[in-house]
Amino acid sequence: MTASRSTAAALPAGLVGRKVAGYRLESEIGRGGMAVVYRAKDLRLGRTVAVKLLAPELARNEVFRRRFMHESEAAAAIDHPHIIPVFEAGEHEGILYLAMRYVEGGDLRTLMNRDGPLPVERAARLALQIASALDAAHGRGLVHRDVKPGNVLVAAGTDSEHPEHLYLADFGLTKKSLSLSGLTSVGQIVGTLDYAAPEQISGRALDGRCDQYGLGCVVFEMLAGTPPFRRESDLALLWAHLNEQPPVLREHRPDLSPAVEAVVARALAKTPDERYADCLQFVAELRASAIPAPWAGAGPPTQVVPVPDRGVAPVPEPPAWAAPVVHPAPRD
Ligand SMILES: Nc1ncnc2c1ncn2[C@@H]1O[C@H](COP(=O)(O)OP(=O)(O)O)[C@@H](O)[C@H]1O
Ligand SMILES: [Mg+2]
Repeated sequence: MTASRSTAAALPAGLVGRKVAGYRLESEIGRGGMAVVYRAKDLRLGRTVAVKLLAPELARNEVFRRRFMHESEAAAAIDHPHIIPVFEAGEHEGILYLAMRYVEGGDLRTLMNRDGPLPVERAARLALQIASALDAAHGRGLVHRDVKPGNVLVAAGTDSEHPEHLYLADFGLTKKSLSLSGLTSVGQIVGTLDYAAPEQISGRALDGRCDQYGLGCVVFEMLAGTPPFRRESDLALLWAHLNEQPPVLREHRPDLSPAVEAVVARALAKTPDERYADCLQFVAELRASAIPAPWAGAGPPTQVVPVPDRGVAPVPEPPAWAAPVVHPAPRD
């Protein structure tokens, strides 16, 4: 379910060929709820970049604007293989812009449309990359708040074992929360509600576990081919995130084990305390649940036989200089 999308339309049309803050806009890549993204040439360095122009009304919103600058800086400071490198964020003639690495290959939405529903091993491999980016951000006190397939960019990977390399994009580009009071005062919701956590909808304090819920919705969609909740109206969708149990994943994918079902359900728990401690733990459990037990269907596991002691010489103690340095706690 996509909510009203009118803000990006407020950006002047026909910007291709124009120069914005040292970047020449070459072609439009796509439009989201509040921005237009262009392939552009960085005129100082001669390289191709992606430039995102935000709708002018966002620049006029002082709270958004401060958050955008602050979180763009914070995200740019995280040097992580799965977070999109941000080169510059600023303002040009009343329009906020963001210059970042150009990723050729579309986003996770394109990938799912082409290849989905995905085998659980592949979904888990993709989710692992997103989870590592999210946990790195959470470790620095940043919550993404808008985890969704369109914000996961897909580049070519390095080899056949890593066919795609994912980048998480768009830190700091969501409004602070999706609280209902916020909705009515603004009069519309920007973006999609398919991946919004219950605590985001009810306007409670957010931490990294709200991104885990978003990732849980994305994983559900990678496996089922549809996000957990689809409703006729935005309000019905908000209600479903808040109050309704997610549908049974195995109704979409009877081939999946109950263990996979249970792991995804836990990431989608209504209260953050019931979810995993972090995103990597969620994906680790997903991977583990996808591996069929070697004794499945063959009765209980055979007895574990201890490895015989082959009389290996004991490992000598390390020299004193190799011992860990422990600083005594300061006394006061
Ligand atoms: N750095 C980038 N390189 C290539 N494509 C990008 C980049 N950033 C965003 N895009 C694409 O631009 C489109 C619009 O992005 P955006 O305005 O963030 O909308 P949304 O995230 O709501 O889809 C998306 O389809 C996305 O895949
Ligand atoms: Mg985006």
